[in-house]
Amino acid sequence: MKKPATKSFGILTSGGDCPGLNAAIRGVAKATMGIYDMNVMGICNGYKGLIEGEVKQLSPEDVSGILTRGGTILGTSREKPFKVTGDADGEVGKNKVEAIKETYQRFGLDCIVVLGGNGSHKTANLLKDEGLNVVGLPKTIDNDIFGTDVTFGFYSAVDIATDAIDRLHSTAHSHNRVMVVEVMGHYAGWLALYAGVAGGADVIILPEIPYDIESIKKHITKRAKGGKAFSIIVVAEGAVSYEESKLSKKELKKKMKESSSPSKGYAIAKEIEACTDMDVRVSVLGYQQRGGTPSPYDRVIATQFGTAAAELLYKGEFGKMVAKVNNKIITVPLEDVAGKIKLVPKDHRLIKDARMVGTCFGD
Ligand code: F6P
Repeated sequence: MKKPATKSFGILTSGGDCPGLNAAIRGVAKATMGIYDMNVMGICNGYKGLIEGEVKQLSPEDVSGILTRGGTILGTSREKPFKVTGDADGEVGKNKVEAIKETYQRFGLDCIVVLGGNGSHKTANLLKDEGLNVVGLPKTIDNDIFGTDVTFGFYSAVDIATDAIDRLHSTAHSHNRVMVVEVMGHYAGWLALYAGVAGGADVIILPEIPYDIESIKKHITKRAKGGKAFSIIVVAEGAVSYEESKLSKKELKKKMKESSSPSKGYAIAKEIEACTDMDVRVSVLGYQQRGGTPSPYDRVIATQFGTAAAELLYKGEFGKMVAKVNNKIITVPLEDVAGKIKLVPKDHRLIKDARMVGTCFGD
């Protein structure tokens, strides 16, 4: 075997945590230590640890027995080193990037492996442009990273949300209630779509399809007239009404801030109560969707992404994100991923499938 292009690298987890992060760390570390005899350094708390030089040696024991563990053994943060802060010329931003370069040199790193979402890959691409070697693995429960069909964390969140929707079905049915289930997904509605279909939701509200409350009212009252006095409405936290979709980002933020409803699920429940005589309750799944052990599928995809990253380190192919497209593990240039979000296309096949079994999308 020819000499690996990478002798020593750092690995970090950045952004919102999710099930599968430790499985991915394990995949990268076991392959690089075991096959390529590389030195693996753990960078604590995402890019914050890279700025502050919080870097520790990882041993085979550190990455043993973590396949099934939720969260991340390295810790994470939402640090954005390139974000221009208060001062005019972005001095702090420049210092953070200089600090990262200093850490990279000080620990003799040949590459940084980033397990992260959209924001983390945007930073990874900027670090590449600064001359650092970077490899990315797509992580998020939102499944909204451009360039890959799937991110690890997504299917675990679908499993968690679907189990919750199944449980909420029985209590809604028993009480003849409308149950509004709010799931995560600020910009993209992949989680709401998949969990909504899997959970047999009557209404699914996506950020990509602005809703008309009259359409929702018509659907659930028609169900009630047909003898189904209960309904399940799955709402992505980033969903907007048709009127709200016409507002600027700033106006929308102001409206949400001034709203008496703490989140979109409560807002929609209030709108339904105002135009029907139905009994409505709300369940916000929140951070449960980000916690706990990864599903078997996520353990597999995280391991596959980890070993694919190990091969890139061996070959010295930097500046790429590993991905799964049409069921094949491939690599995508970071510049093709950075700054983009993979939204649910309005003509997505699963939306059509859901409509064919009678699901309403509020339009
Ligand atoms: O990006 C994943 C995610 O869980 C989103 O679905 C959610 O809106 C956001 O993170 C919550 O961010 P935080 O963990 O910083 O509260």
